[in-house]
Amino acid sequence: MSASSPPSVTATGLAHRFPGTNVLFSNVSFALAPGTVLGLCGPSGSGKSTLLSILAKWEKPWHGAIAYSYVNRIGWVFQNPHGVAARSALDHVVYPLLTRGMRRPDAETKALKVMEDFRLIEVAQRSFSALSGGEAQRLMLARAVCQSPDLLLVDEPTAQLDTSTAATVTETLHLLAEHGLMVVIATHDAAARATCTHIVDLADHVSNQDAATSFAPH
Ligand SMILES: Nc1ncnc2c1ncn2[C@@H]1O[C@H](COP(=O)(O)OP(=O)(O)O)[C@@H](O)[C@H]1O
Ligand SMILES: [Mg+2]
Repeated sequence: MSASSPPSVTATGLAHRFPGTNVLFSNVSFALAPGTVLGLCGPSGSGKSTLLSILAKWEKPWHGAIAYSYVNRIGWVFQNPHGVAARSALDHVVYPLLTRGMRRPDAETKALKVMEDFRLIEVAQRSFSALSGGEAQRLMLARAVCQSPDLLLVDEPTAQLDTSTAATVTETLHLLAEHGLMVVIATHDAAARATCTHIVDLADHVSNQDAATSFAPH
């Protein structure tokens, strides 16, 4: 197939437990294609972050498999925004473009275009430490887009934010998919959930131990 084949991810029959703990979830299957925004929902402790780690290949699933097709780069946006306090917002978005070999003027043009999408133009020259929580979180999403991942994993982007600030982040989440990414968002925020194209609710995949023992661990 050509190098331009669209990336995809297919997860089949995923189940996970950590050594010595109960089974967190079982029988989780889904497929991702460019434009998919999959919401991973479920209460705290249900395994949302764990499933993101499995998708990132940091953790091996106890049962089931994930097939990756044409996925070269996997990005991750953490629950709490991390940046360099004294650096400008713009610098944070330009940086991944420079590391990919783009020249500074081209990188700035591209970064500003993405920041416009994420409503960050007004704060482009502001230092990271002077951004609001919502601006900082949107900046992390804009930066992630410029890392050009095929698959972007976002862990509770609105968890630390008040309702109106969370809404500005949620509004921008669909932009990620418009940039052609496959996006998986762990969330228990109803507004964020509403923006997703697909939902996996881990509350529907809680396994009891009897059922779990019928799985053969790897
Ligand atoms: N490395 C680990 N070893 C053992 N237990 C873990 C490990 N990581 C997470 N857990 C446990 O797995 C459960 C699910 O955690 P997590 O995936 O963080 O849930 P969520 O993101 O939905 O809140 C929690 O009870 C947590 O304590
Ligand atoms: Mg979590």
